[in-house]
Amino acid sequence: MAYDTLLVETRGAVGLITLNRPKALNALNGHLIAELNTVLDAFEADEAVRAVVVTGSEKAFAAGADIKEMLSHDFVSALASDFIAPWDRIARCRKPVIAAVAGYALGGGCELAMMCDIILAADNARFGQPEINLGTLPGAGGTQRLIRAIGKSKAMEMVLTGRMMDAREAEQANLVARVVPAADLIDEAIKLADTIAEKSAPVVAMAKAAVNAANEIGLNDGLRFERSQFYATFATADRGEGMQAFVDKRSPKFTNR
Ligand code: CAA
Repeated sequence: MAYDTLLVETRGAVGLITLNRPKALNALNGHLIAELNTVLDAFEADEAVRAVVVTGSEKAFAAGADIKEMLSHDFVSALASDFIAPWDRIARCRKPVIAAVAGYALGGGCELAMMCDIILAADNARFGQPEINLGTLPGAGGTQRLIRAIGKSKAMEMVLTGRMMDAREAEQANLVARVVPAADLIDEAIKLADTIAEKSAPVVAMAKAAVNAANEIGLNDGLRFERSQFYATFATADRGEGMQAFVDKRSPKFTNR
């Protein structure tokens, strides 16, 4: 299926989504978010897709929510339309999602990347929440996810000044997992996704849910949830296979059951 704002392909077990509004530096308008959500629904329903990579162009992952689209909103229309509501579909994806970020990841672009499970950054990546310069503030999770990723002082500095962070600083601040040369970004992201795709799919989903719980609930509830997920893996064939393979000194053959 062809999309107006995305390029979509699968590479083996990996679904690759490329944001594709080059003239607007991949600014995220309602149509793009709707198309992105359609693809995520399809990838989630497709058993052959085991991990997803979201990327943009070499110049921009995404330069934010589409300012031209937002311009005409007033408070009442923003509230009534709740136009940011569809954005968090990607955060609810049960399969692992990797953001492969080159160039600008600003405003909603940074927020979209932070909704993914792992951010892999090209060495030319730049992250920021410049909404303050537009007389507004991050509206798709920036004030909440950034502080959890990089801590209060740095998050506050970025949100209140609109300063951008380069890839090295983002790595040092733990916003991104790793920085790679821009030319290798997609290959590295696919390699990472492939590594995850080789594991047991149900156990990957459970591990992802357990890690995400740490950002959503308190420590005691999180520990209880983790333990229930851990014990639940003992109901899978893959847990038996994984441990037996270790004992037998061979590689496991997971069947996703
Ligand atoms: N929305 C709409 N269009 C955008 C855009 C955005 N967020 N970002 C860039 N564009 C458009 C520009 O208007 C321009 O279009 P025209 O050629 O038609 O004028 C085109 O993309 C290229 O942009 P520039 O000429 O500005 O490119 P540049 O290389 O000089 O600068 C940039 C690049 C620093 C990223 C600059 O484009 C910029 O500052 N963009 C806006 C970043 C921003 O403020 N993002 C936050 C948006 S608000 C938000 O995201 C709210 C939220 O939390 C949900």
